[in-house]
Amino acid sequence: MKPPWWQDMVLYEVYVRGYFDSNADGIGDLPGLTSKLDYIRDLGVNAIWLLPIFPSPLRDDGYDVSDFRGIHPDLGTLDDFRRLLDRAHELGLRVLVDLVLNHTSDAHPWFVSARKGPGHAHHDWYVWSPAQDKYAGARVIFSDTETSNWTLEPACGLYYWHRFYSHQPDLNFDNPAVREEMLDVVRCWLDLGVDGFRVDAVSYLFEREGTESQNLPETHAFVRELRRMVDAYSPARALLAEANHPIEDLAAFFGQGDEFHMAFHFPLMTRLFLAIRLEDSRPLAELLAKSPSLPGGCQWAMFLRNHDELTLEHVTKEEREYLWREYAAETASRLNLGIRRRLWPLLSGGRRQIELLHALILSLPGCAVLYYGDEIAMGDDPRLGDRMGMRTPMQWTAGSNAGFSQAEAPRLYAPVVTGPEWHYAGRNVASQDRQPTSFLNWLRRMVRSHRADPIFRGPGLSLVPADNIHVLAFVRERDDGRILCLNNLSRFVQPVTVDLSEWKGRVPRELIGGATFPAIGSDPYLFTLGPHGFYWMRLERS
Ligand code: BGC
Repeated sequence: MKPPWWQDMVLYEVYVRGYFDSNADGIGDLPGLTSKLDYIRDLGVNAIWLLPIFPSPLRDDGYDVSDFRGIHPDLGTLDDFRRLLDRAHELGLRVLVDLVLNHTSDAHPWFVSARKGPGHAHHDWYVWSPAQDKYAGARVIFSDTETSNWTLEPACGLYYWHRFYSHQPDLNFDNPAVREEMLDVVRCWLDLGVDGFRVDAVSYLFEREGTESQNLPETHAFVRELRRMVDAYSPARALLAEANHPIEDLAAFFGQGDEFHMAFHFPLMTRLFLAIRLEDSRPLAELLAKSPSLPGGCQWAMFLRNHDELTLEHVTKEEREYLWREYAAETASRLNLGIRRRLWPLLSGGRRQIELLHALILSLPGCAVLYYGDEIAMGDDPRLGDRMGMRTPMQWTAGSNAGFSQAEAPRLYAPVVTGPEWHYAGRNVASQDRQPTSFLNWLRRMVRSHRADPIFRGPGLSLVPADNIHVLAFVRERDDGRILCLNNLSRFVQPVTVDLSEWKGRVPRELIGGATFPAIGSDPYLFTLGPHGFYWMRLERS
């Protein structure tokens, strides 16, 4: 049977507001993105995921939705969205949109009515209480801004429940009318032709006394219902879970293969940053060794950075302190329990490290997710509030406004990055495109090599014991094909011997350049790896 289109895809996360401004108003928009789809296709990716595009007062940059069925006027119209879908499909790109089920904006007409009190329309679409003591087991997620998950609504004298900002009241999923309405919202986008959803904050749909009010059985039951509905569509559509939890809770979102197709691998992401800074492969090897095998048709979505802070919620206290010290010595870079920096500044521009991290997310089983701008080594702007410093305009050229917009600079929704180390003049698509050795061109080649090799498809992975803790070694297997992946987490040259006797007689051939290595014999096989070096070696019959 042909695997679904999302299997082992490479997904590109796009911030529409920041991508390309087609009408010189200082804000990126859907026609602007449509005009850049060729560039995205040339990256070699299979699909794009759009951050929220719906009407919103933008107090959480669009995750505060005030109309689930519309398009934010800054970004265009539904017709613009249809044109984007058509063009993407023509180019062979799939389109996922964000689906914010858990909450609305307090400006949503439902809440505007609900807040007037019991008896008013939609009041019971939200979660109310006369006191703040219910569901005390639920932690506060935006701990830098909120002190409680309850906020008093003066109009009715009741408290309403919110897991995120207090202007984002949670919907009451115990109310069947809410569940039906949100399924109908999903239908509306599926009918328009979207290929899937990144389902935001999906762990928090229900609340129950005496629990942490996350990952509850009721939430999983709703997800199964959502999945059944999505499965009825043809061609097939994909569901990607955003649930930031330890691996066991996260894996539960695959259900028995009847919930999500994909889930972001938050534990892997933090361990990648830990392992590379410790120069030690064990945080990764331990995680891979204990990773549950996933139901058929399910896979992890691996990422390095995204539009949010690099979350450190689920590492130990000691690990968090270490990662903060190492990656966010300036406290201004810290946000909630995380770090608000883009990939390149986080790693102080260390190209070898960044290449290695990409090689890892491309070679481990599952889908790799890239964040817009990371492919051109874009910097960030720590002066901007909340997470906006990581959502600055895409840098297309060395010209004015980095080629993002023809508006006057003060009209841009956010300034382009001009800090001395990260100035857009040297970090933009046009200049990276011209340089054969640029990171952009390197990444294009890597994505192509990854996509071209069927061995990288499917779940097969076995760790290979290596005699050097700096090196992570694993084999990807499929049918009769094998690729040995070696990854040096250290900044120094490392020797490593690995036991490959199982494949005696085969010849390692490096995948990118095609160089052939000596045939495997009965003795342990010696490789030497350069600083942060990695090899993808096909083990071929001689
Ligand atoms: C999104 C955030 C957003 C939050 C509340 C998250 O999971 O990625 O950007 O602030 O949900 O909607």
